[in-house]
Amino acid sequence: MKKLLITIFAFILLFANQVKADEGMWLPSLVGKLNIDKMHSMGLKLSAEQIYSINNSSLKDAVVAMDRGSCTAEIVSADGLLLTNHHCGFGEIQKHSSVEHDYLQDGFWAQSHDQELPNPGKSVTFLVSMEDVTSRVLDGISDTTSVASRRAKMADAIAVIEKQARGTTKYEVSVRPLFEANIFYLFITETFRDIRLVGTPPQSIGKFGGETDNWMWPRHTGDFSMFRIYCAPDGKPANYAKENVPYHPKHHLPVSLKGVQENDYAMILGYPGRTNRYLTSYGLKNTMEVVNNIRIKARSAKLEIIRDYMAKGDKNRIQYASKFAISSNEYKYSVGQNLGLPALHVTGKKLAIEKEFTDWVNLDPARKVKYGNVLTDIANAYRSVDDRIAFEYSREVLLEGPEIFKFSLNISSLHNELRSNDKEKIKEAANRFKASLDGFYNDYDAQTDLKIAAVLTKMYAENVATKYQPSFLASATRKYKGDYLAYTTQLYKKSIFPERQKLEAFLDKPSLKILDKDPVYNAMISMMEAIKIIGVDYRQSTAGLENAKKLFVAGLNEMNSDKTIYPDANSSMRLTYGRVGDCNPRDGVHYSYFTTLKGYAEKGVTGDPDFDFPQQLIDMYHAADYGRYADKDRTLHTCFTTNNDITGGNSGSPVMNANGELIGIAFDGNWEAMSGDIAYEPDLQKCINVDIRFVLWIIDKYAGAKHLVDEMTIIE
Ligand code: ARG
Repeated sequence: MKKLLITIFAFILLFANQVKADEGMWLPSLVGKLNIDKMHSMGLKLSAEQIYSINNSSLKDAVVAMDRGSCTAEIVSADGLLLTNHHCGFGEIQKHSSVEHDYLQDGFWAQSHDQELPNPGKSVTFLVSMEDVTSRVLDGISDTTSVASRRAKMADAIAVIEKQARGTTKYEVSVRPLFEANIFYLFITETFRDIRLVGTPPQSIGKFGGETDNWMWPRHTGDFSMFRIYCAPDGKPANYAKENVPYHPKHHLPVSLKGVQENDYAMILGYPGRTNRYLTSYGLKNTMEVVNNIRIKARSAKLEIIRDYMAKGDKNRIQYASKFAISSNEYKYSVGQNLGLPALHVTGKKLAIEKEFTDWVNLDPARKVKYGNVLTDIANAYRSVDDRIAFEYSREVLLEGPEIFKFSLNISSLHNELRSNDKEKIKEAANRFKASLDGFYNDYDAQTDLKIAAVLTKMYAENVATKYQPSFLASATRKYKGDYLAYTTQLYKKSIFPERQKLEAFLDKPSLKILDKDPVYNAMISMMEAIKIIGVDYRQSTAGLENAKKLFVAGLNEMNSDKTIYPDANSSMRLTYGRVGDCNPRDGVHYSYFTTLKGYAEKGVTGDPDFDFPQQLIDMYHAADYGRYADKDRTLHTCFTTNNDITGGNSGSPVMNANGELIGIAFDGNWEAMSGDIAYEPDLQKCINVDIRFVLWIIDKYAGAKHLVDEMTIIE
């Protein structure tokens, strides 16, 4: 196995130049070997070493994973100033907002460092280095090693590699699988935890178009927000402390005001989360029929209830803004994917790949021995459907639907202390829990949660096989004759959790008897039991999948050894390069590669929740004072599209020109290619970016925060 992979890799290197420019999320450390010639031929002016270097500062030192990879951000000043998307700072902006200080509605701009707002829990992570450790991880493992023994040997080897790499440094280290665990990389990283909010436009700019325009082009969203990295006075990562100082990075990106033209070179460094480009037709069917369908059904019910609540007032709107945006973004993703996959005949493409694979395997007896069962094993792993359906519903309904059940689990440590009856420890656990209540109740409405619980538990009861039903749902049928609203109303009324005062009164005088009888807590415990049973069945029915997927990918790569290949996204840093360009989404329709402020005026409706057009922006549009931020055509460009290959997690990533200067911030993908995470669509797939000149114009002219622009290195 080991040898074979080395051969594959040698092949990858040999045929590096045949790859299409647009597709591919490349490992930065391999760009010098795999991609750099092609990149130079397309116009790149930098060396591979200037993009990724272990010894010298390089572009990678200006790009960070935000919140462990849920987004990306880039450093744009010597004082650790960060740019990311508005939707990546949305949670923090929402938490800092109140009816009195509504930063969602009005925006926020720190006029000096001491006004920058701390955000406990927010982090950014730098990549220190990455290294192929495949041969060490797979040492002593052969084709005949059993799955269990392979797993154990790998775990041991990984532990040793990580321990050695950690040594005495304060860095984090982790060995992670690529290509379905055919290749392994060691990542060394450093995480900073004092990240302060510096500025955000109002959501009428930062989220212009709202859920309506989300995942679509043409777009006019100024999807950016600003943070700053703080560190201890010695430059090391530290938790928030008043005396912390702005971090001085090894590199910050210069910002270009030159704008973009069609066919300009464009590249993105960032942290794509997950793609499934090697998914089989069997996996595809499961994604559509089980994962997406259940998500769509559960989310549309849940979102409707939240939408109603939010419409009833500013307090409500602020409370649920972030929860709604996250849930709805994923909902629309699944809707788009379920439309795109059939429209673009992705199943047919997958079947064609599988047929080619089977033919290739059948040509050679040795291949037959090794790969002959791969596709049947995969098919078998997807055969059992009841447990998959239950698995998805348990996630959507029991864990991510109503919030109170999961929240009630926070009392388990107090529950344990109550059982052991140690007065001191009981008090300690009660106080600890009490101190954490703000985070939950500030953004929680029990009535809304109850309505969600009623609708979703009913959905679970009606759609999941009997053996996976948690016992508490049986009472809904028995005692309440299927009236889930009446049932959950009782449940919430009799529990200590839905109302903060009740819970606090309980925590002042904790009692084992009350907790043991609490209906919400007991419902949660019965859900956990059901989830355990689902897990056992699910693991059993998919036992062969891990190994079969590994072999399928190894076989495909061997079969395609004349092509340069890249691994699926896994939240590690990747580079994608391509060009600025337009799109013909369907017959007779052409999308220009850029939008302008004129589009605001066309779409804007004062006071509309999605398309509000603030008066100040209307006035500024009419004044057309764009100064140095204007394009050559004298308009203000708002967004543009490139054919860079990105996905969720890339949000906030820097779009850079041939000199490594910032020209935009990536923030979305387009509706016509929502299936792109499963099969890249070279003719349709676009990366949607906010033009950096729009961002700077907003900061400078709209917000009057020119001091932030002055902090940057501007290339005019
Ligand atoms: N579709 C974008 C992404 O997943 C997120 C956009 C957030 N905006 C919104 N209206 N929810 O990267």
